[in-house]
Amino acid sequence: MSKIALCYSYNTNKTSLAAKKIAEEFGKGNVELVNAESITPGQFLSFQNYILGVPTWFDGELPNYWDEFIPALEDLDLKGKKVALFGNGDQKGYPENFVDGIGIMADILEKCGAQIVGYTSADGYTFDSSKALSGNMFKGLALDFENQGKQVSQKIKDWVKQLKTEFKTKAGRPKSRKKQ
Ligand SMILES: Cc1cc2nc3c(=O)[nH]c(=O)nc-3n(C[C@H](O)[C@H](O)[C@H](O)COP(=O)(O)O)c2cc1C
Repeated sequence: MSKIALCYSYNTNKTSLAAKKIAEEFGKGNVELVNAESITPGQFLSFQNYILGVPTWFDGELPNYWDEFIPALEDLDLKGKKVALFGNGDQKGYPENFVDGIGIMADILEKCGAQIVGYTSADGYTFDSSKALSGNMFKGLALDFENQGKQVSQKIKDWVKQLKTEFKTKAGRPKSRKKQ
């Protein structure tokens, strides 16, 4: 498995905490930390697999540092690349827009041809609506430090385990089947 870009803002508080835990779970040498506040298109394209930290701010929007990179991101060809998204949110404080940032980023990346991996169940969360949902699954890992802080570590452990498998399988191809 080639090195995974773990891309998040180094200036965040809880997103940084989650990112460090994710890196720890993957083990040294498997991920490369990349600061979302200074990323360039060339640097972004040099990876095959990505984990992006996308917290939700401003009632259902991405933070400024992601907004600044998005015009460049939208022009990239990401076919054959896999991206997993984790996003912090607050289901009690913002039940109408819970982890919307995951859904916003997933849409942009899919339009660029990337495959989103790392979907997780929305069971166990209470909110009214979220752009991150596809059926009963979030298009990534929803972390709520404010209301479910004690669950964060275990959710990350389970997700990294899942990602280790999902990043390994070939993009867009079903698992090999025996010939009839
Ligand atoms: C002004 C403000 C707006 C927010 N808007 C949302 C929101 O729309 N949806 C959501 O799920 N969480 C929202 N949150 C909660 C944050 O996503 C949450 O606090 C998160 O842990 C912040 O992560 P960070 O500190 O790493 O950026 C908001 C928080 C603040 C302070």
